Amino acid sequence: MSLSLQALLQKRADDGFALAYSDLLLEPAHSAVMPRDADPSGRFSRTIPLSVPFVSAAMSTVTTASMAIAMATHGGIGVIHPAMDPEEQRKMVRKVKLRLNGLIDTPVTIRAQISLEEVRQLREDKGYGFETFPVVDDRDRLVGIITSNDFKFWPDPSTLVSDAMTPYEKIVHGKRSTTPEEARTLMRTHRVRVLPLVDDDRKLVGLYVSSDVERVLGSRKNYTLDAQGHLRVAASIGTLEDAYKRAELLASVGCDAFVVGTAHADTQGVLETVHTLKHTYPHIDIVAGNTSYDEGAKRLAQAGADGILVGQGPGSICTTRIVAGIGIPQASAVFECVQALKGSGVPIIADGGITTSGDIVKALAIGASAVMLGGLLAGTDEAPGEKVYVNGQPMKEYFGMGSGRAMREHAASRKRYGQQGIPSGKHTPEGVEGRVPYRGPIESVINELLGGVRSGMGYLGAKTIEDMRAAHAVQITQAGYVESRPHNIYLDHSE
Ligand code: XMP
Repeated sequence: MSLSLQALLQKRADDGFALAYSDLLLEPAHSAVMPRDADPSGRFSRTIPLSVPFVSAAMSTVTTASMAIAMATHGGIGVIHPAMDPEEQRKMVRKVKLRLNGLIDTPVTIRAQISLEEVRQLREDKGYGFETFPVVDDRDRLVGIITSNDFKFWPDPSTLVSDAMTPYEKIVHGKRSTTPEEARTLMRTHRVRVLPLVDDDRKLVGLYVSSDVERVLGSRKNYTLDAQGHLRVAASIGTLEDAYKRAELLASVGCDAFVVGTAHADTQGVLETVHTLKHTYPHIDIVAGNTSYDEGAKRLAQAGADGILVGQGPGSICTTRIVAGIGIPQASAVFECVQALKGSGVPIIADGGITTSGDIVKALAIGASAVMLGGLLAGTDEAPGEKVYVNGQPMKEYFGMGSGRAMREHAASRKRYGQQGIPSGKHTPEGVEGRVPYRGPIESVINELLGGVRSGMGYLGAKTIEDMRAAHAVQITQAGYVESRPHNIYLDHSE
């Protein structure tokens, strides 16, 4: 009779042992769930659900804007790395947020006193491809709207906008909080092609255009979106003053979550940063990490974290455990933190050490709500950097944020690993530099990983990630591990 996965990990913990993913196998269970019917949706943080439980790592060789866009359009989320100046990070977040123009948050406006000819000239000078302009007064209050029909209806170019426009009283408009779905309903009901949004003072705060809304709503089934229909994105921002400065800039462009990240989060600096940010930006989720033990997770949650990154040293490029002699094998670390936060509503993201989809199945069954991936995504087209050929094989560069190279190149890396102020060349790296196989477009990688997760859910009879937590498991020996891998065959392609 096997033990439940939770009971097994608890028993090992009671005896002072900790297990890695590879020490474990889950026991198949009676199943009425076909893999294609399993629902793998997870959670990044308190208010950010994911339809796919994958998060891309906040690393300079993994997540910039294109990775974050790819992650969100596949149902996960990306964390823009911090090894760049704050302004550059702001631009990346903005790029992700503007990718789906479900809502135009700063529409181009005109004044009522100019002529239609002047509007035409403006369009030509600025290269605007649209003919719809909200008309505002000197306090940015909406007074009317001009559309392409008005240009046709008023052939005299000297006609003033104030005469040609549809006045405010006749305009169908929405509120700041109008969602794309509500906008679509309003526009369909009133047969209008644009929907300006105004606040209580009649100030213009956004504009929906029906063609954009139809496109966004039609294609976004599994996208990770905010209430306005924009892709969601997170950004890693470090701690204290640096974090506060970045947070202000990133909040101004609609960043959905801040990741307060250092190699050891159970410290005064991180707790204080989480606490301060949570109070300053109550509407933005704060994800904190990394930690790997129960008390650390609890203190971060008490400080206000809405999600916690668990993992100290399991990553493919990490040497923290070798250099500093600290760490907890990842399956047990995730277990400890999940148990510590049971019932709190704060999700755990298992960060690092995922080598196969089977590891993801184990992390989710232990209780993680998502996994953070570095090495598995670093070889994709959406990761930064060019392909390089090594012995004829296409590769991409991948290095640790605590590696010698990252410490030399990025102040954020020195800070993350507590090496600020130490002269160049004298840092103590906690990560390595290398390459991973080139893996083509991210879509194939995500499909492969997701296929594995669905398959695991089918074997466990789990319709949802919650259901996976009833799994039973065994600890395996080295012989069991060897038996589990391909053996006694010359492989056509070795990974
Ligand atoms: P994987 O296994 O997915 O791990 O490649 C990615 C995670 O590893 C962490 N990370 C590091 N840890 N030294 C470390 O000890 C490093 O240089 C380093 N760089 C990244 C990080 O949590 C990432 O998400």
